[in-house]
Amino acid sequence: MKLSLYLLLSAFAANMLFAVATSKDSGPITLEMLNVINPAAARSTFCKDFEKKQGVKGECILNSDAVAPINKAIAKYKITRLGEIAATLAWMLFESEGWHYVINHNPGNKGQGTRTMMSWAYVSKYAKELYPDKYAKVIGKFSDDTSKADNSTKTKVMDLVLNNDDSLAAGFWYLTKQASSFHNKKDKLRTLNLKDFKDYTWNGIKADVSTDDNGKKQFTWEEGRTAKWNEVNKIIGKAKLKQLVTGSMLSKRRRNH
Ligand SMILES: *[C@@H]1O[C@H](CO)[C@@H](O)[C@H](O)[C@H]1NC(C)=O
Repeated sequence: MKLSLYLLLSAFAANMLFAVATSKDSGPITLEMLNVINPAAARSTFCKDFEKKQGVKGECILNSDAVAPINKAIAKYKITRLGEIAATLAWMLFESEGWHYVINHNPGNKGQGTRTMMSWAYVSKYAKELYPDKYAKVIGKFSDDTSKADNSTKTKVMDLVLNNDDSLAAGFWYLTKQASSFHNKKDKLRTLNLKDFKDYTWNGIKADVSTDDNGKKQFTWEEGRTAKWNEVNKIIGKAKLKQLVTGSMLSKRRRNH
C-alpha cells in the first residue's frame, strides 16, 4: 500500500474512533469516507449544479447530509457486519445515482423511491411500520389492497418516508425486515465478497432478475452495481471498518456499565 493511502486510511480510523466517542450521531461511517466513495457529493455546489442542469428539485443531497442519517440507521437496525453496510451503501449509491435522486423518474413509477428506490409495495410497508397513524389516514380505502392505490395516494404515502433519515435508512430496514435471511448470517454478505453482493441483489433485493415465459428465472447484472460496490469497498475494506464497528459496540457496552 502506498504510504499516503496508508496515512489517509489511518486518519479515517482515528476519526471514527474519535467520532464514536464524542457524538451520538456518529458511527462507523464518516464524512471523509463518503467523500472518497462519492466525491462529487463532497462539493458544496453539487446539488445546485445538478438542479440547474436537470430541473429535478429538492431530491439531491450532499454527503454531509447523508452521513448522520446513515449512522443512525446502522444503529437503529443494529447492523454490525461490514459486508451488510457495504452492500447497503452500494445499493443506495447505485439507485440514487450518488444521492441525486430519491424518487423514481425513469420510467416514473409512482410510489417507488427512497435512496434505494424500493418499489411501491415496500415503500408502503415501510411507511406503515414507521408512521402507522399517518399511514392509515393517507392510505384510506386502499388499506386492504395497496396494489390498487391511485397515484396521488402512492405519492402521499411515499412522502412520509422521503426525509433524509428515513430514505437513507430504508435499505437497512429492508435488509433486516424484508430480507432477513441475509442479515447476520455468516455465509451471506461477507466482507469484500462480490459474489455475496450479487446473491443479495438477485435473491434479497430481487433486482436484475426476471422470469421468462417458461417461469425460469433470468439473471442480468448492471455493471454500475459492481462499480459502486468497488468504490465503497475500496475504503471500507482497507480501513478495517470491521474492527471499528466492533470497537463502537465495545465502547457502547462500556458506557452502559
Ligand atoms: C399513474 O402513474 C403512472 C406512472 O407510474 C402513469 O403511467 C399513469 O398514467 C398514472 N395514472 C393516472 C390515472 O394518472
